[in-house]
Amino acid sequence: MTNTRPILYLSRLLPDPVMAIVRERFQLVQEPLDALPAPSALREGLSQADAAIVTLGDPIDAETIRVATRLKILANYAVGYNNIDLAAARQCGLIVTNTPDVLTDATADLTWALLLATARRVVEGDTLVRSGKWTGWSPTQLLGAEVTGKTLGIIGMGRIGQAVAQRAVGFRMRVRYHTRQSLATPSFPHEWEHRSLRDILEEADIVTIHTPLTPATHHLIGAHELAWMRPTAFVINTARGSIIDERALVDALKTGIIAGAGLDVYEQEPAPHQMLAQLKQVVLLPHIGSATLHARVQMGLVCLKNIHAVLEGRPAPNHVH
Ligand code: DGY
Repeated sequence: MTNTRPILYLSRLLPDPVMAIVRERFQLVQEPLDALPAPSALREGLSQADAAIVTLGDPIDAETIRVATRLKILANYAVGYNNIDLAAARQCGLIVTNTPDVLTDATADLTWALLLATARRVVEGDTLVRSGKWTGWSPTQLLGAEVTGKTLGIIGMGRIGQAVAQRAVGFRMRVRYHTRQSLATPSFPHEWEHRSLRDILEEADIVTIHTPLTPATHHLIGAHELAWMRPTAFVINTARGSIIDERALVDALKTGIIAGAGLDVYEQEPAPHQMLAQLKQVVLLPHIGSATLHARVQMGLVCLKNIHAVLEGRPAPNHVH
């Protein structure tokens, strides 16, 4: 009996419920591992497949796309797609899709976890208790920054930026946002006020970044921009590391230009600037914004939905242009 199931290349192992569907409906080029493939393995895998699911750590450049001659769809297992040369994909007629919506809440929740952990020194507290050196309650111990009632500056007001803003209501925060796109956003509550990038940085007690990484947002926050922030302010980044100039951030933290940072993403993953780990006013997470079982399963299902559509000759619901 011939195997007529389409051939799928998976660059990484996905959560079990997704793998179960994948195994039932596709032939796999090879068993995926829980590790990034080498660039040569990635190319080889993509060149054999009708469809592929890749992750944000897989750099899909023009040459990789060029050799993937039978590939019809590249489903990126992420909402961000800065890892893919979209122009090259378009030129080769390769459809690229992403996974919006299903990870919005998970990422907004994690942003708040990081924000609170940074402002309230949660990780330092955990480390102290585990060390066995905690001597008991003290009026002056681990004093953090008040969050309630402060000003939250949001850079990038797409789905995730808005979800973060909605969560600020319970903290009675003033929401100020910056977006490069249309200022006409009648659907936003009137209390959310648009500001220039500079005004956001000058006004906010906490700045949180939710813009995609593009050539225009690469190092959007550098030494100049950090200098506009208050010395008591924090910056939180759950978007993409390269939106902040990491070296400038380290300098700003070391010299007290800003008070602290909560980072889930880095310029070079998995190798953040080595000084970051030495600064106690910084909370570092390993890019887990969307890491709930629910979100990660839904992301897989969105990839599969797009793949089925394209292989059946229908438009991909999440085609990125
Ligand atoms: C995304 O989807 O872009 C996230 O960074 C992955 O969690």
